[in-house]
Amino acid sequence: MLDAARIPLALYVHVPWCVRKCPYCDFNSHVLRGTLDEAAYLGALVADLERDVPLAGGRSVASVFIGGGTPSLVSGSFVGRLLDAVDRQLALAAGVEITLEANPGTAEAGRFRAYRTAGVNRLSLGIQSLDDRHLAALGRIHGRAEALAAVDLARAAGFGNLNLDLMHALPGQTVAEALADLDEVLALGPEHVSWYQLTIEPNTAFAAAPPAVPDEDRVAEIQDEGLSRLAAAGFEHYEVSAHARPGFRCRHNLNYWEFGDYLGIGAGAHGKLTLADGRVQRRWKVRHPADYLAGAGSDAGVAGAVVLGPEDLPIEFALNALRLASGVPLALYPARTGLATATLAAGRDRGLALGLLDPDPDRFAPTVLGGRFLNRLIGLFAAG
Ligand SMILES: C[S@@+](CC[C@H](N)C(=O)[O-])C[C@H]1O[C@@H](n2cnc3c(N)ncnc32)[C@H](O)[C@@H]1O
Ligand code: SF4
Repeated sequence: MLDAARIPLALYVHVPWCVRKCPYCDFNSHVLRGTLDEAAYLGALVADLERDVPLAGGRSVASVFIGGGTPSLVSGSFVGRLLDAVDRQLALAAGVEITLEANPGTAEAGRFRAYRTAGVNRLSLGIQSLDDRHLAALGRIHGRAEALAAVDLARAAGFGNLNLDLMHALPGQTVAEALADLDEVLALGPEHVSWYQLTIEPNTAFAAAPPAVPDEDRVAEIQDEGLSRLAAAGFEHYEVSAHARPGFRCRHNLNYWEFGDYLGIGAGAHGKLTLADGRVQRRWKVRHPADYLAGAGSDAGVAGAVVLGPEDLPIEFALNALRLASGVPLALYPARTGLATATLAAGRDRGLALGLLDPDPDRFAPTVLGGRFLNRLIGLFAAG
Protein backbone atom coordinates (compact mmCIF):
# COMPACT_ATOMS: atom_id res chain seq x y z
CA MET A 1 0.00 0.00 0.00
CA LEU A 2 1.12 3.55 -0.74
CA ASP A 3 2.49 5.36 2.27
CA ALA A 4 1.36 9.00 2.02
CA ALA A 5 3.98 10.10 4.55
CA ARG A 6 6.71 9.34 1.98
CA ILE A 7 5.19 11.49 -0.77
CA PRO A 8 6.28 15.13 -0.90
CA LEU A 9 3.59 17.74 -0.30
CA ALA A 10 3.19 21.16 -1.94
CA LEU A 11 0.58 23.89 -1.56
CA TYR A 12 -1.04 25.85 -4.39
CA VAL A 13 -2.92 29.05 -3.52
CA HIS A 14 -5.12 30.67 -6.17
CA VAL A 15 -5.88 34.38 -6.38
CA PRO A 16 -8.71 34.60 -8.93
CA TRP A 17 -8.78 38.28 -9.88
CA CYS A 18 -7.14 40.35 -12.62
CA VAL A 19 -7.32 44.00 -13.61
CA ARG A 20 -8.51 42.94 -17.06
CA LYS A 21 -9.14 39.59 -18.76
CA CYS A 22 -6.55 38.85 -21.44
CA PRO A 23 -8.20 37.56 -24.65
CA TYR A 24 -6.07 34.37 -24.78
CA CYS A 25 -6.45 33.35 -21.15
CA ASP A 26 -8.56 30.43 -19.93
CA PHE A 27 -7.31 30.50 -16.33
CA ASN A 28 -9.87 30.93 -13.57
CA SER A 29 -9.51 34.69 -13.51
CA HIS A 30 -12.19 37.31 -13.08
CA VAL A 31 -12.08 41.06 -13.59
CA LEU A 32 -11.80 42.73 -10.21
CA ARG A 33 -14.64 45.21 -9.74
CA GLY A 34 -14.00 47.73 -7.00
CA THR A 35 -11.39 46.96 -4.39
CA LEU A 36 -10.29 43.54 -3.29
CA ASP A 37 -11.63 42.61 0.15
CA GLU A 38 -8.38 41.11 1.39
CA ALA A 39 -9.66 40.26 4.85
CA ALA A 40 -12.56 38.29 3.39
CA TYR A 41 -10.38 36.34 0.95
CA LEU A 42 -7.69 35.66 3.51
CA GLY A 43 -10.36 34.39 5.92
CA ALA A 44 -11.75 32.10 3.20
CA LEU A 45 -8.28 30.74 2.32
CA VAL A 46 -7.46 30.01 5.95
CA ALA A 47 -10.81 28.27 6.48
CA ASP A 48 -10.24 26.28 3.28
CA LEU A 49 -6.76 25.29 4.43
CA GLU A 50 -7.96 24.29 7.89
CA ARG A 51 -10.45 21.93 6.34
CA ASP A 52 -7.82 20.35 4.07
CA VAL A 53 -5.12 20.01 6.74
CA PRO A 54 -6.09 16.46 7.78
CA LEU A 55 -5.39 15.39 4.18
CA ALA A 56 -1.76 16.35 4.67
CA GLY A 57 -1.35 13.53 7.18
CA GLY A 58 1.20 15.47 9.24
CA ARG A 59 3.49 16.30 6.32
CA SER A 60 5.13 19.72 6.06
CA VAL A 61 5.00 21.76 2.89
CA ALA A 62 8.06 21.73 0.63
CA SER A 63 6.85 24.47 -1.73
CA VAL A 64 4.12 27.07 -1.96
CA PHE A 65 2.96 28.61 -5.24
CA ILE A 66 0.71 31.66 -5.11
CA GLY A 67 -0.74 31.80 -8.61
CA GLY A 68 -3.59 33.34 -10.45
CA GLY A 69 -5.19 35.32 -11.72
CA THR A 70 -2.96 38.08 -10.50
CA PRO A 71 -1.55 37.46 -7.03
CA SER A 72 0.34 40.76 -7.19
CA LEU A 73 -3.04 42.42 -6.56
CA VAL A 74 -2.78 41.40 -2.89
CA SER A 75 -0.64 43.22 -0.34
CA GLY A 76 2.54 42.01 1.30
CA SER A 77 0.75 41.77 4.63
CA PHE A 78 -1.87 39.47 3.06
CA VAL A 79 0.94 37.18 1.89
CA GLY A 80 2.67 37.38 5.28
CA ARG A 81 -0.48 36.44 7.18
CA LEU A 82 -1.27 33.67 4.72
CA LEU A 83 2.19 32.14 5.08
CA ASP A 84 1.99 32.43 8.88
CA ALA A 85 -1.28 30.49 8.78
CA VAL A 86 0.28 27.84 6.52
CA ASP A 87 3.25 27.53 8.86
CA ARG A 88 0.98 27.21 11.91
CA GLN A 89 -1.30 24.65 10.36
CA LEU A 90 1.07 22.57 8.26
CA ALA A 91 4.62 23.80 8.86
CA LEU A 92 6.77 25.13 6.08
CA ALA A 93 9.68 22.74 5.52
CA ALA A 94 13.24 23.99 5.91
CA GLY A 95 14.36 25.58 2.64
CA VAL A 96 10.78 25.88 1.38
CA GLU A 97 10.39 27.43 -2.10
CA ILE A 98 7.72 30.14 -2.13
CA THR A 99 6.74 31.54 -5.53
CA LEU A 100 4.38 34.41 -6.28
CA GLU A 101 3.14 35.31 -9.77
CA ALA A 102 3.16 39.00 -10.56
CA ASN A 103 1.81 40.99 -13.49
CA PRO A 104 4.19 43.84 -14.44
CA GLY A 105 1.18 46.15 -14.67
CA THR A 106 0.63 45.75 -10.94
CA ALA A 107 4.31 45.94 -9.93
CA GLU A 108 5.07 48.33 -7.10
CA ALA A 109 8.44 48.63 -5.40
CA GLY A 110 6.98 48.62 -1.89
CA ARG A 111 4.83 45.60 -2.60
CA PHE A 112 7.71 43.55 -4.05
CA ARG A 113 9.84 44.32 -0.99
CA ALA A 114 6.96 43.35 1.28
CA TYR A 115 6.53 40.01 -0.56
CA ARG A 116 10.22 39.31 -0.06
CA THR A 117 9.98 40.20 3.64
CA ALA A 118 6.89 38.01 3.97
CA GLY A 119 8.97 35.02 2.85
CA VAL A 120 8.40 34.85 -0.92
CA ASN A 121 11.74 33.75 -2.40
CA ARG A 122 10.84 33.22 -6.06
CA LEU A 123 9.03 35.75 -8.20
CA SER A 124 7.42 34.90 -11.53
CA LEU A 125 6.76 37.87 -13.81
CA GLY A 126 4.28 37.68 -16.69
CA ILE A 127 6.33 39.55 -19.29
CA GLN A 128 4.71 37.84 -22.34
CA SER A 129 6.52 40.10 -24.87
CA LEU A 130 8.69 43.19 -24.86
CA ASP A 131 7.07 44.65 -27.96
CA ASP A 132 4.39 47.26 -27.24
CA ARG A 133 2.45 46.36 -30.37
CA HIS A 134 2.20 42.70 -29.39
CA LEU A 135 1.48 43.50 -25.76
CA ALA A 136 -1.45 45.64 -26.89
CA ALA A 137 -2.74 42.85 -29.16
CA LEU A 138 -2.55 40.48 -26.17
CA GLY A 139 -4.70 42.88 -24.17
CA ARG A 140 -2.00 43.30 -21.53
CA ILE A 141 -2.31 46.07 -18.96
CA HIS A 142 1.40 46.86 -19.23
CA GLY A 143 3.81 47.92 -21.94
CA ARG A 144 7.46 47.16 -22.52
CA ALA A 145 8.63 49.89 -20.13
CA GLU A 146 6.62 48.49 -17.19
CA ALA A 147 7.82 44.97 -17.95
CA LEU A 148 11.46 46.08 -17.86
CA ALA A 149 10.83 48.18 -14.74
CA ALA A 150 9.25 45.19 -12.98
CA VAL A 151 12.44 43.17 -13.46
CA ASP A 152 14.50 45.99 -11.90
CA LEU A 153 12.02 46.32 -9.04
CA ALA A 154 12.21 42.59 -8.37
CA ARG A 155 16.00 42.65 -8.23
CA ALA A 156 16.01 45.79 -6.07
CA ALA A 157 13.57 44.08 -3.71
CA GLY A 158 16.12 41.27 -3.25
CA PHE A 159 14.72 38.49 -5.44
CA GLY A 160 17.58 36.24 -6.49
CA ASN A 161 15.30 33.67 -8.13
CA LEU A 162 13.31 35.24 -10.90
CA ASN A 163 11.18 33.54 -13.54
CA LEU A 164 10.05 35.40 -16.62
CA ASP A 165 7.01 34.16 -18.59
CA LEU A 166 7.38 34.84 -22.30
CA MET A 167 5.04 33.78 -25.11
CA HIS A 168 5.76 33.31 -28.81
CA ALA A 169 3.77 32.65 -31.99
CA LEU A 170 1.80 35.79 -31.21
CA PRO A 171 -0.72 37.33 -33.62
CA GLY A 172 1.18 38.84 -36.53
CA GLN A 173 4.56 38.06 -34.96
CA THR A 174 7.51 37.46 -37.29
CA VAL A 175 10.27 34.96 -36.56
CA ALA A 176 12.69 37.85 -36.03
CA GLU A 177 10.34 39.55 -33.55
CA ALA A 178 9.85 36.39 -31.51
CA LEU A 179 13.60 35.83 -31.31
CA ALA A 180 14.27 39.48 -30.45
CA ASP A 181 11.85 39.12 -27.51
CA LEU A 182 13.71 36.03 -26.35
CA ASP A 183 17.13 37.68 -26.72
CA GLU A 184 15.98 40.62 -24.63
CA VAL A 185 14.53 38.40 -21.94
CA LEU A 186 17.79 36.43 -21.78
CA ALA A 187 19.76 39.67 -21.53
CA LEU A 188 17.73 40.52 -18.41
CA GLY A 189 19.50 37.62 -16.70
CA PRO A 190 16.60 35.63 -15.18
CA GLU A 191 17.24 32.36 -13.34
CA HIS A 192 14.26 30.72 -15.09
CA VAL A 193 12.33 31.30 -18.31
CA SER A 194 8.91 29.82 -19.07
CA TRP A 195 8.70 30.08 -22.85
CA TYR A 196 5.18 29.27 -24.02
CA GLN A 197 3.77 28.95 -27.50
CA LEU A 198 0.53 30.93 -27.54
CA THR A 199 -2.36 28.49 -27.73
CA ILE A 200 -5.88 29.46 -28.69
CA GLU A 201 -7.95 28.05 -25.84
CA PRO A 202 -11.67 27.31 -26.11
CA ASN A 203 -14.02 29.84 -24.49
CA THR A 204 -11.62 32.76 -24.78
CA ALA A 205 -12.01 35.97 -26.78
CA PHE A 206 -9.28 34.70 -29.16
CA ALA A 207 -11.27 31.49 -29.77
CA ALA A 208 -14.36 33.56 -30.63
CA ALA A 209 -12.41 35.74 -33.08
CA PRO A 210 -9.17 33.91 -33.89
CA PRO A 211 -6.25 36.20 -34.73
CA ALA A 212 -3.80 35.27 -37.50
CA VAL A 213 -0.86 33.54 -35.84
CA PRO A 214 2.39 32.32 -37.46
CA ASP A 215 2.05 29.09 -39.47
CA GLU A 216 3.57 25.77 -38.43
CA ASP A 217 6.81 26.30 -40.35
CA ARG A 218 7.36 29.74 -38.81
CA VAL A 219 6.63 28.33 -35.33
CA ALA A 220 9.12 25.51 -35.91
CA GLU A 221 11.72 28.07 -36.99
CA ILE A 222 11.08 30.18 -33.87
CA GLN A 223 11.34 27.14 -31.64
CA ASP A 224 14.44 25.55 -33.19
CA GLU A 225 16.39 28.78 -33.05
CA GLY A 226 14.92 29.85 -29.69
CA LEU A 227 15.84 26.58 -28.01
CA SER A 228 19.42 26.85 -29.17
CA ARG A 229 19.63 30.44 -27.88
CA LEU A 230 18.25 29.38 -24.49
CA ALA A 231 20.78 26.55 -24.32
CA ALA A 232 23.64 28.84 -25.40
CA ALA A 233 22.66 31.22 -22.60
CA GLY A 234 23.14 28.40 -20.07
CA PHE A 235 19.55 27.29 -19.58
CA GLU A 236 18.58 23.64 -19.15
CA HIS A 237 15.41 22.76 -21.02
CA TYR A 238 13.89 20.47 -18.42
CA GLU A 239 10.18 20.52 -19.26
CA VAL A 240 8.09 21.34 -22.34
CA SER A 241 8.13 25.11 -21.69
CA ALA A 242 10.47 25.42 -18.70
CA HIS A 243 14.12 26.48 -18.87
CA ALA A 244 16.32 26.97 -15.83
CA ARG A 245 19.85 27.87 -14.96
CA PRO A 246 21.50 25.00 -13.06
CA GLY A 247 20.01 24.79 -9.55
CA PHE A 248 16.96 26.93 -10.38
CA ARG A 249 14.36 24.42 -11.60
CA CYS A 250 10.95 25.23 -10.18
CA ARG A 251 10.58 22.74 -7.34
CA HIS A 252 6.86 23.33 -7.03
CA ASN A 253 6.18 22.45 -10.65
CA LEU A 254 8.65 19.54 -10.53
CA ASN A 255 6.53 18.09 -7.75
CA TYR A 256 3.48 18.10 -10.08
CA TRP A 257 5.45 16.44 -12.85
CA GLU A 258 6.89 13.87 -10.46
CA PHE A 259 3.34 13.06 -9.36
CA GLY A 260 3.82 14.36 -5.83
CA ASP A 261 0.95 15.53 -3.65
CA TYR A 262 -0.43 19.03 -3.35
CA LEU A 263 -3.18 20.82 -1.55
CA GLY A 264 -5.01 23.47 -3.56
CA ILE A 265 -6.74 26.33 -1.79
CA GLY A 266 -8.54 29.29 -3.30
CA ALA A 267 -11.27 29.65 -5.94
CA GLY A 268 -11.05 26.79 -8.46
CA ALA A 269 -7.81 25.41 -6.99
CA HIS A 270 -7.03 21.75 -7.64
CA GLY A 271 -5.36 19.35 -5.24
CA LYS A 272 -3.99 15.80 -5.50
CA LEU A 273 -3.54 13.82 -2.33
CA THR A 274 -2.54 10.33 -1.35
CA LEU A 275 -5.05 9.32 1.33
CA ALA A 276 -4.24 7.43 4.52
CA ASP A 277 -5.58 4.23 2.89
CA GLY A 278 -3.17 4.62 -0.05
CA ARG A 279 -5.75 5.74 -2.62
CA VAL A 280 -5.03 8.85 -4.72
CA GLN A 281 -7.66 11.59 -4.68
CA ARG A 282 -8.09 14.65 -6.85
CA ARG A 283 -10.22 17.45 -5.42
CA TRP A 284 -11.10 20.92 -6.58
CA LYS A 285 -12.74 23.99 -5.13
CA VAL A 286 -15.64 26.06 -6.48
CA ARG A 287 -14.47 28.35 -9.27
CA HIS A 288 -16.44 31.54 -8.92
CA PRO A 289 -14.91 33.91 -6.34
CA ALA A 290 -18.31 34.87 -4.86
CA ASP A 291 -19.34 31.21 -4.41
CA TYR A 292 -15.92 30.42 -3.01
CA LEU A 293 -16.06 33.28 -0.51
CA ALA A 294 -19.46 32.03 0.64
CA GLY A 295 -18.51 28.36 0.85
CA ALA A 296 -14.81 28.07 1.68
CA GLY A 297 -14.15 25.84 4.67
CA SER A 298 -17.47 23.97 4.28
CA ASP A 299 -18.83 21.33 1.90
CA ALA A 300 -20.08 24.16 -0.32
CA GLY A 301 -16.50 25.23 -1.04
CA VAL A 302 -15.48 21.87 -2.50
CA ALA A 303 -16.71 21.51 -6.09
CA GLY A 304 -15.68 17.89 -6.48
CA ALA A 305 -13.42 15.02 -5.49
CA VAL A 306 -12.61 11.76 -7.26
CA VAL A 307 -10.46 8.81 -6.32
CA LEU A 308 -8.25 7.73 -9.20
CA GLY A 309 -8.67 4.07 -10.03
CA PRO A 310 -6.02 1.72 -11.40
CA GLU A 311 -7.34 2.46 -14.90
CA ASP A 312 -6.67 6.23 -14.48
CA LEU A 313 -3.28 6.17 -12.80
CA PRO A 314 -1.03 5.09 -15.70
CA ILE A 315 -2.17 7.94 -17.96
CA GLU A 316 -2.24 10.46 -15.11
CA PHE A 317 1.33 9.53 -14.23
CA ALA A 318 2.45 9.58 -17.89
CA LEU A 319 0.76 12.94 -18.49
CA ASN A 320 2.97 14.49 -15.85
CA ALA A 321 6.24 12.55 -15.87
CA LEU A 322 6.69 12.56 -19.65
CA ARG A 323 6.60 16.36 -19.76
CA LEU A 324 10.05 16.21 -18.19
CA ALA A 325 12.83 16.07 -20.78
CA SER A 326 14.73 13.47 -18.75
CA GLY A 327 11.56 11.83 -17.43
CA VAL A 328 11.67 10.13 -14.03
CA PRO A 329 13.18 6.94 -12.59
CA LEU A 330 10.80 4.08 -13.41
CA ALA A 331 10.78 3.27 -9.68
CA LEU A 332 8.84 6.47 -9.09
CA TYR A 333 5.79 4.89 -10.72
CA PRO A 334 5.09 2.27 -8.02
CA ALA A 335 6.22 4.75 -5.36
CA ARG A 336 3.60 7.31 -6.42
CA THR A 337 0.74 5.15 -7.68
CA GLY A 338 0.99 1.94 -5.64
CA LEU A 339 0.73 -0.03 -8.89
CA ALA A 340 3.23 -2.55 -10.26
CA THR A 341 5.40 -1.30 -13.14
CA ALA A 342 3.84 -4.13 -15.18
CA THR A 343 0.71 -1.96 -15.49
CA LEU A 344 2.75 0.39 -17.70
CA ALA A 345 4.15 -2.42 -19.83
CA ALA A 346 1.75 -2.29 -22.79
CA GLY A 347 2.21 1.48 -23.23
CA ARG A 348 5.95 1.18 -22.70
CA ASP A 349 6.29 -1.55 -25.32
CA ARG A 350 4.44 0.54 -27.88
CA GLY A 351 6.38 3.67 -26.96
CA LEU A 352 9.68 1.82 -27.32
CA ALA A 353 8.68 0.29 -30.65
CA LEU A 354 7.78 3.74 -31.98
CA GLY A 355 11.04 5.26 -30.74
CA LEU A 356 9.11 7.64 -28.48
CA LEU A 357 10.34 6.26 -25.14
CA ASP A 358 13.87 6.08 -23.78
CA PRO A 359 15.09 2.43 -23.90
CA ASP A 360 16.84 2.73 -20.48
CA PRO A 361 15.02 0.04 -18.44
CA ASP A 362 15.34 2.06 -15.22
CA ARG A 363 13.83 5.25 -16.56
CA PHE A 364 10.46 6.42 -17.75
CA ALA A 365 11.44 9.16 -20.15
CA PRO A 366 10.63 10.46 -23.62
CA THR A 367 13.16 10.39 -26.43
CA VAL A 368 13.66 13.64 -28.33
CA LEU A 369 11.10 12.31 -30.82
CA GLY A 370 8.73 11.45 -27.96
CA GLY A 371 9.05 15.00 -26.67
CA ARG A 372 8.06 16.29 -30.09
CA PHE A 373 5.04 13.98 -30.31
CA LEU A 374 4.16 14.14 -26.65
CA ASN A 375 0.39 13.80 -27.01
CA ARG A 376 0.83 10.69 -29.12
CA LEU A 377 3.21 9.24 -26.53
CA ILE A 378 0.98 10.03 -23.55
CA GLY A 379 -2.03 8.58 -25.39
CA LEU A 380 -0.30 5.17 -25.38
CA PHE A 381 -0.98 4.97 -21.63
CA ALA A 382 -4.73 5.59 -21.85
CA ALA A 383 -6.95 2.83 -20.47
CA GLY A 384 -8.51 0.38 -22.93
C1 LIG B 1 -1.50 32.93 -14.44
S1 LIG B 1 -0.55 33.59 -15.71
C2 LIG B 1 0.78 34.51 -14.90
C3 LIG B 1 0.53 35.70 -13.97
C4 LIG B 1 -0.29 36.88 -14.45
N1 LIG B 1 -1.67 36.51 -14.47
C5 LIG B 1 0.12 37.42 -15.77
O1 LIG B 1 -0.52 37.08 -16.77
O2 LIG B 1 1.05 38.23 -15.79
C6 LIG B 1 0.40 32.20 -16.27
C7 LIG B 1 1.15 32.29 -17.58
O3 LIG B 1 0.63 31.37 -18.53
C8 LIG B 1 0.88 31.83 -19.83
N2 LIG B 1 -0.34 31.67 -20.62
C9 LIG B 1 -1.60 31.98 -20.26
N3 LIG B 1 -2.47 31.69 -21.25
C10 LIG B 1 -1.74 31.18 -22.28
C11 LIG B 1 -2.05 30.72 -23.58
N4 LIG B 1 -3.30 30.71 -24.05
N5 LIG B 1 -1.04 30.26 -24.36
C12 LIG B 1 0.23 30.25 -23.89
N6 LIG B 1 0.59 30.69 -22.68
C13 LIG B 1 -0.39 31.16 -21.87
C14 LIG B 1 1.32 33.27 -19.75
O4 LIG B 1 2.69 33.36 -20.08
C15 LIG B 1 1.09 33.61 -18.29
O5 LIG B 1 2.08 34.46 -17.78
S1 SF4 C 1 -3.37 38.72 -16.26
FE1 SF4 C 1 -2.69 36.55 -16.37
S2 SF4 C 1 -4.31 35.33 -15.34
FE2 SF4 C 1 -5.11 37.43 -15.72
S3 SF4 C 1 -6.28 37.23 -17.58
FE3 SF4 C 1 -4.19 37.91 -18.15
S4 SF4 C 1 -2.99 35.98 -18.49
FE4 SF4 C 1 -4.89 35.43 -17.45
